[in-house]
Parts: sequence; C-alpha cells; structure tokens
Amino acid sequence: MKKVNITDLKPGMYVVNPGDSWLMNPFLYTHEGKIEKETSIIENILDSGFLEVFIDLKRSDPDSLPPDWRVSDDTSTEDILNRQSEEEKWNTPLPTVPIGEEMAEANKICSETLDFVRGMIDGNHVEGEHVEIAQPFVERMLNSLQRNSNALLGLCKLRMSDNYTYTHCVNVAVFTLSFARGLGVPEDKLQLYGLAGLFHDIGKTMVPQEILNAPRKLTNLEFEVMKTHSSRGYEQLSKIPGIFQEILDGTYQHHEKYNGLGYPLNLKSDEISMAGKLMAVVDIYDALTSQRVYKPAMPAVKVLGIMYGMREQDFHPGVVESFIRMLGVYPVGTVVKLTDGSMAVVSGINNNSGTKPQVVLIKDPKGKFVPRPVVIELEKEANLAIDTCLLPNQYNFKVDEILKNVQEIPPV
Ligand SMILES: [Fe+2]
Ligand SMILES: [Fe+2]
Repeated sequence: MKKVNITDLKPGMYVVNPGDSWLMNPFLYTHEGKIEKETSIIENILDSGFLEVFIDLKRSDPDSLPPDWRVSDDTSTEDILNRQSEEEKWNTPLPTVPIGEEMAEANKICSETLDFVRGMIDGNHVEGEHVEIAQPFVERMLNSLQRNSNALLGLCKLRMSDNYTYTHCVNVAVFTLSFARGLGVPEDKLQLYGLAGLFHDIGKTMVPQEILNAPRKLTNLEFEVMKTHSSRGYEQLSKIPGIFQEILDGTYQHHEKYNGLGYPLNLKSDEISMAGKLMAVVDIYDALTSQRVYKPAMPAVKVLGIMYGMREQDFHPGVVESFIRMLGVYPVGTVVKLTDGSMAVVSGINNNSGTKPQVVLIKDPKGKFVPRPVVIELEKEANLAIDTCLLPNQYNFKVDEILKNVQEIPPV
C-alpha cells in the first residue's frame, strides 16, 4: 500500500481504506475500489476537498503506476518488510529470562502505570509532581524490557479492555522507550523517551469530550480543535520548571511529518527532533492496532504494511524500517496459522529474520488443542512457516495465558 496525494491519483489505481483513528483526518479519501476511466471522478474527488489517498499497488493496473511504484507479483508485504528489516542494524541485547517469567511484572507495570495516567488525565491538569511520580514507572518499564522485551511489548497490546485514552499513553511510553533503546539512545537519556510517551497527549484533556470520543469522522472545524492538543500539551508542560527537552519535543512534535505536512508547526525533515521522529511512528502504530468504539483493531502485520507505505512521506527514512526491526513482522502476541494448518502464538522476536519468530503451538493441523504448548523456532524449521494471521474472533483462548507458560528463551 502507498499513500499518495490526490493530484497523483490516476484511473486504474485501486483505492483502499486503511481504517481510521489518525484517519479521523477529514482530507483522506477512503472510498474503496478501482478508479474507473472517466477523469471526472478524480476531479470530483479533488473538488470535494480530499488531499490524500491510500492505493493498493498490487490491485492497481500496472499501467496506472509510475515505474518505480510497480511491484512484482511474487513479492508480498511480508517479504518487503522482512527484506527491509534485515538491512537495518539492530543491536538489542537478547532476553535474559523467559517471557513466561517476565509476564507477571509486565502486567503489574501496565496496571500501575495505567492507574497513574488515569488519575492525571481525569484530574485535568499536569504539574512537576506528575513527572516525578512517573519516573519510577518508566524505570521499571526499562528494567523489564532489559530482562525480556517481548513480555511488556506483547502484553501492553493485549490489554484491550481499558479506556483507549489511558492505554494509548502507556503503550506509547513502552514502545517509544523500547524503540529508543534499540536505536542506541544513551542510558542517561533513555527514560526521557518513556516519559515523553506518557505525557505526549496530555493536551487532549483540553479538547471537548464530544470531539475526543466522536464515533465518526471529524468535521474540518472539529479536526482543527483536535489538532490543538499537541501545542496545548506543550504549553502546559513548559510551565514546569526544569522539564526535560525530550518530553517537550515529543509532546509538541509527535504529529509532525517528514514531508512537512504535519502539525502544529509544519516542521520537516531534520527540523523535527529525535523524540518527534520516533513518536510519530509509535503513535500511529498504537492508534491503528487499537480497538475503538467505531472500529475494530487492525492486525499488526497489516498496520506495519500501511506504515511502510508511508515511509519517507510521513516518516523519516529508516525509522519505520527500524520500528519493524524492533517488533518483527509478526509482533509478539500475534495468533497465526502455520503452513501445515496448525495454530500458534508468536512468543519471541527473531532478530535475524522478522518472518520467522519463535511461536508456541496451540492447536495441531486437525484443530485439536495440543496437550502441552510446544515452543518452535520457525527459523530452524525448513518446512514450516507462517501462513496467515488470525483475528480475535477466529480463536477462543487467552493469548496472555498462553505466553505465561513459555519458559524457553529465543536462541541467539
Ligand atoms: Fe497526539
Ligand atoms: Fe497519541
């Protein structure tokens, strides 16, 4: 999938609707299907005020695409993601404890941080004391990521039942912290990226609830109000004496885009800070993979494919690729069908190959639960691979309960 300007839309291109959330964006054209021959259709879309559109390169007529957009038939999104992620350098230390051992502490960290965020957001204001109280939570996140990052990264996305406004802040903190760690941000700065994640949307406390929780696409006017949350959050936080620059940058700039079409300042390229660059990616990933009242959660592999299509437009070169390197093509907690028909849960990332993670076998090819979950390193299996990802309505077990029983550490 690729995001293009409406002015680049041609007859024969196949439009896809990538779901919403940040696509509350009223300028995104989302009517799914192939653009037919009459050029008046494109003129009508332009006249209606749409600015951007996602197209599916494989379902578009090849003639409608510029030569450098064309993809060969045998290249899947997963292949592209995997190839790209293998080219990136990623030096995250390997886990020192099994995911099953780390799940309980990861769960406690998520719950307690969530309580803190809920109190802060419901209290409708932020002050220096909040930043001090938040620091031990971020320190615990970092320690957990160092023992086995799969536990916290997987678990925070499995806790879907809580209110999105709160879980989103916790998730963005966990992912930004892990992302900065993988990119080699120095130890003394690292926790500031986690704090930036916790506070980045604090300005939403000043956006009216009916806009914040609107179960529909926002009007242009409402969208303008929504967009004020990053500068309002920045203004609030900058009143705190001694506030760290990374927290201010992340809050102010997490909706800026590489191509200068973001907000609030239309910064571009290297005008955007490191915190802004990383959090732009993390923020959209969490929004799209989360369930909201008006949309189901989208599978992570699909979201990563969409985001890959936005590289070097919305995101800085290499940043999405590194993010995929951190999560793998199939993030921990993804339920998958294997090529022999069996069902498994991804339990560990393989730094050598994003499409061949460690999985726990749950059901055999005949659909029967295996008596005791079996851990498989797909990299070592010549005749077994991931076939498809399954949606929550396609299985009837609790993924976190499965992961709690995994006692094997992924090999080097
Ligand atoms: Fe935001
Ligand atoms: Fe956000």
